[in-house]
Amino acid sequence: MLYTCEAVSCSCVAAALARAGSSSGNNTVELTLELKTKIKSSLNPRFLSVTVDGSLASEPKYIAFLRSQKLIALAKGLSPAYLRFGGTKSDFLLFDPSKNEYQEDRPTNQAANICEQRTLTSAEEKMLHSQWFAQEQQILKENFRNQYTNATITKSTVDMLYRFANCSDLHLIFGLNVLLRNDNNEWNTSNAKLLIDYCSSNKYNLSWELGNEPNSFRKKSGIYISGSQLGKDFVSLHKLLRKYPCYQNSGLFGPDIGQPKTQSQKMLKSFLETGGEIINSITWHHYYVSGPTASEEDFINPDILDSLVSEIQTVFQIVNESVPGKRIWLGETSSAYGGGAPGLSNTYLDGFMWLDKLGISAKSGIDVVMRQALFGAGSYNLVDSDFEPLPDYWLCLLFKKLVGSIVLNAGLKGTSRDDRKLRVYIHCTNKNNPKYAMGDVTLFVLNLHDTTKNIQLPSSLSGKFIDEYLLLPAGKEGLQSATMLLNGEVLKMVDDKTLPTLNGRLLVPGSTLVLPPLSFAFYVVKNAMASACL
Ligand SMILES: *[C@@H]1O[C@H](CO)[C@@H](O)[C@H](O)[C@H]1NC(C)=O
Ligand SMILES: *[C@@H]1O[C@H](CO)[C@@H](O)[C@H](O)[C@H]1NC(C)=O
Ligand SMILES: *[C@@H]1O[C@H](CO)[C@@H](O)[C@H](O)[C@H]1NC(C)=O
Ligand SMILES: *[C@@H]1O[C@H](CO)[C@@H](O)[C@H](O)[C@H]1NC(C)=O
Ligand SMILES: *[C@@H]1O[C@H](CO)[C@@H](O)[C@H](O)[C@H]1NC(C)=O
Repeated sequence: MLYTCEAVSCSCVAAALARAGSSSGNNTVELTLELKTKIKSSLNPRFLSVTVDGSLASEPKYIAFLRSQKLIALAKGLSPAYLRFGGTKSDFLLFDPSKNEYQEDRPTNQAANICEQRTLTSAEEKMLHSQWFAQEQQILKENFRNQYTNATITKSTVDMLYRFANCSDLHLIFGLNVLLRNDNNEWNTSNAKLLIDYCSSNKYNLSWELGNEPNSFRKKSGIYISGSQLGKDFVSLHKLLRKYPCYQNSGLFGPDIGQPKTQSQKMLKSFLETGGEIINSITWHHYYVSGPTASEEDFINPDILDSLVSEIQTVFQIVNESVPGKRIWLGETSSAYGGGAPGLSNTYLDGFMWLDKLGISAKSGIDVVMRQALFGAGSYNLVDSDFEPLPDYWLCLLFKKLVGSIVLNAGLKGTSRDDRKLRVYIHCTNKNNPKYAMGDVTLFVLNLHDTTKNIQLPSSLSGKFIDEYLLLPAGKEGLQSATMLLNGEVLKMVDDKTLPTLNGRLLVPGSTLVLPPLSFAFYVVKNAMASACL
C-alpha cells in the first residue's frame, strides 16, 4: 500500500530500499521484559467497559435497539464489564412514571428465558433503521450546537436498558440528571427519587452517577454548579440511596469531569473536598482530538498518543492530594469527541488510539476505561447502526480474552532515544482463558512506523511457543477499512447469536515477531512462567 511501484520507477524502488535498510534503520529490536514484579495493583475485572449515550433515549422508541439479539450477543462477549448510561443528554432526561408505552417489557416475572422474549423482530428493526438516520442527525446537531432540549424517559426506557445490561451480563450504571435544581441551587432529588423507587420496586441491581461534564454546564444549560456544590449534591444522592435496602451499598461514581484543563482541575479539587469521601471511584473523560477536524495522521501520531500520560498524571496528583488511593476511572472515553470522526474513528485506524489508550491507562493505574460508545449515534461506536461489529469491537474482544489484570513492564533494548512509534505493553495473560496457563504473558504491540518491525523476545523467553494474533485491515480501504483480518481471516460473526472463536497462530520457539507497517498485534507467550503471574 505504501510503496506502490506500479510503473517500476527507479526512484520509488530506491526509496523503498533505503527505508528497508537505511543507515539508521535496524528494523530488528529487542524487548526487555520485567516478569518478576507487577506495576501497581491489579486492575478491575471490568477494566474494559462500555457506554451507551443518553441520547439514544431522547426518543423513547430508539432504546428498543437494545432489544436486538445480535447486539446482546456482542455485548455479552465483553462481559465482565460496566455499561454506563450517561452523557450530556442524561442531564436533560426526565423520568415520567405515569407514561408507559410497552408495559409488557418489564421483566418482573423472572421467567428463566426473559432474554429470549420480546427480542427485536426484523420488521421492527427495519422500521427503526429507516427512521434512525434522521434521528441521528438530530442528535449530532444538538451536540454540535451545544443546545439541548429536555426529553422524557419512561418505565419502559428503564426496563429495556436494564434488560439489555442484565441479558448481556453487564453491570448497569445509570447517570441521573443533576440539572434539576431548587431555588437555592441545590440538586432537586424528586425526579431521581421516582426513578430509584421504580428500580427498587423491580429489584434492579445497578449503580449510579450524577451529572455529566459539570465543567461545561454553563455552556450547555446556562446553569452554573460549583465543584463544592456538586460534591454536596452527591452527598444528597448518597443519603437518598441509603434509604433503599437494595441500594445501600450500590456503586456511586463521579463527577464525570471533562478533560483536566485548568477550570476542570479546580472543579475536581473542590468537588473532592465535599464529595470525595462518599464516592466509590473518581470518573473523568478523555478524548484525543475533535471529531470534525481529525486527520488520519492524528491517529498514528505518537505525540498525540503520549498526551494521555500527562493528563492521567494531572488527575492522579489532584486525587492524591485529597483522597489518596481512591480508584480513578476513565468514565467516558474515545478517540475523537463530537460523535467521533466519520470514516476514521469507525475504522481500523481507530485501533491505534484505542489499544494504546488501554495500554497506557492500565500501566498508569487507571482502574476502569469506559469506551464511548458500544452503540448509538455518531461514528465512535464499537458496533455500527446495522449491528455490525467494527474493528475496535474485535480489539475489545481480543483484549478481554487475552489480557489479564496484572500489568508488567516492557521496554525496548538499546534504542537510545525511546522509539515512541513502536509501543509495547505486557500483562499477565487473562487467567480465565482456558487456553492458557498461569504464568503465561500477553504482549500487545503497535507499530506506527511505515516499515516492518521485527521484535525479538529476551533470551529468557527464546525457548517458548507463542500464539500470534496479528490484526490487519481488510479490503481496499487500507487503514480506513471497517473490517479487519485476524491472522489473515476476516473477522465476522458466525450468525446473529454466535461470535467466532479467535484463534492464534502458533510461532515456534525463537521466532521473531514481525509487525507489518502500521499494524498492531497480540502475542501470548506460553509457558513463560513469569513469576509475577504465578
Ligand atoms: C539489529 O539489532 C538486533 C537487536 O539489537 C541485533 O541482534 C542485530 O545484530 C542488528 N542487525 C544489524 C544488521 O545491525
Ligand atoms: C440479572 O438478573 C438476574 C435476576 O434478577 C440476577 O440473578 C442476575 O444477577 C442479573 N445479572 C446481572 C449481570 O445483573
Ligand atoms: C423539586 O421539584 C419538584 C418537581 O418539579 C417540585 O414539585 C418541588 O417543589 C421541588 N422542590 C423544591 C425544594 O424546590
Ligand atoms: C449487584 O451487582 C454487584 C456488581 O455485579 C454485585 O457485586 C452485587 O452482589 C449485586 N447485588 C445483589 C443484591 O445481587
Ligand atoms: C502523593 O502525595 C504524597 C504526599 O504529598 C507524595 O509523597 C506522593 O509522592 C504523591 N504520589 C503521587 C503519585 O503523586
